[in-house]
Amino acid sequence: MKGYFIAGTDTGVGKTEVARALCALLRERGHNPQALKPFETGCAPDAPEDALALREACGSSQALDDLCPYRFLLPAAPLVAAEAEGRSIDLLRIEELVARAAAPIVVEAAGGLLVPIARAALSLEEVDPADRAPARAVLTNLDLAALLGLPVILVGRAGLGTLNHCALSVAALEGRGLAVAAVVLNRVTEEDDPTVATNARWVSEMTGVRVLGPTPFVPQRAERPRALAAFVDSLAPRR
Ligand SMILES: Nc1ncnc2c1ncn2[C@@H]1O[C@H](COP(=O)(O)OP(=O)(O)OP(=O)(O)O)[C@@H](O)[C@H]1O
Ligand SMILES: [Mg+2]
Repeated sequence: MKGYFIAGTDTGVGKTEVARALCALLRERGHNPQALKPFETGCAPDAPEDALALREACGSSQALDDLCPYRFLLPAAPLVAAEAEGRSIDLLRIEELVARAAAPIVVEAAGGLLVPIARAALSLEEVDPADRAPARAVLTNLDLAALLGLPVILVGRAGLGTLNHCALSVAALEGRGLAVAAVVLNRVTEEDDPTVATNARWVSEMTGVRVLGPTPFVPQRAERPRALAAFVDSLAPRR
């Protein structure tokens, strides 16, 4: 098991919380997981919150530049935030970090799948040889997922709106030939809307992908990895 790419249907859906739970469980099962948050925006250069939370869950001692090579002040999509600082993003640097990582590595994307992350220094044919479409100027999390080739865990909201977001995201991933290991429906609000009770069944029926959750809403941050462990259990092999 090389690892997972944790994608989201959107920003703020619970990618970090699901990834923390998975990292903690992998660690508990005797692996030495590593985390990678390739880009974090809206953070001070020395304090990328998601990346540091993932490192803590892994119990690893990764250097900040290996854990989160691109950190930007502006709370925006990575490419937007990078260009606001006159910087660029090289996806081959991310690919190399994954290639060199001792397995398993848990990679958390930034925002949803079609968020812009880099200019196309890579031609699309390098990213996906089967893709003969004219090269686009902007690459996205989806291109990064294809470049890394890790199985994808898609995190979506538990409530209203998630059917469309999950179905669109799974279609985009499968369109690039990526394996979707699971969809995790995660609660980010205390109160449920009426669709929470049936969304897992509908996402499963609509996508054919294994659906985990809905996870519980857990107010105490420190308790979330334990509370979410049962939902990522099948994704963390026992040694
Ligand atoms: N199961 C849960 N119970 C309670 N709160 C949660 C749960 N999952 C996530 N949250 C809260 O919801 C918010 C969004 O979660 P999280 O940061 O994991 O989202 P994300 O998809 O990683 O966002 P980003 O795109 O910014 O990386 C956070 O404030 C987090 O503390
Ligand atoms: Mg996050």
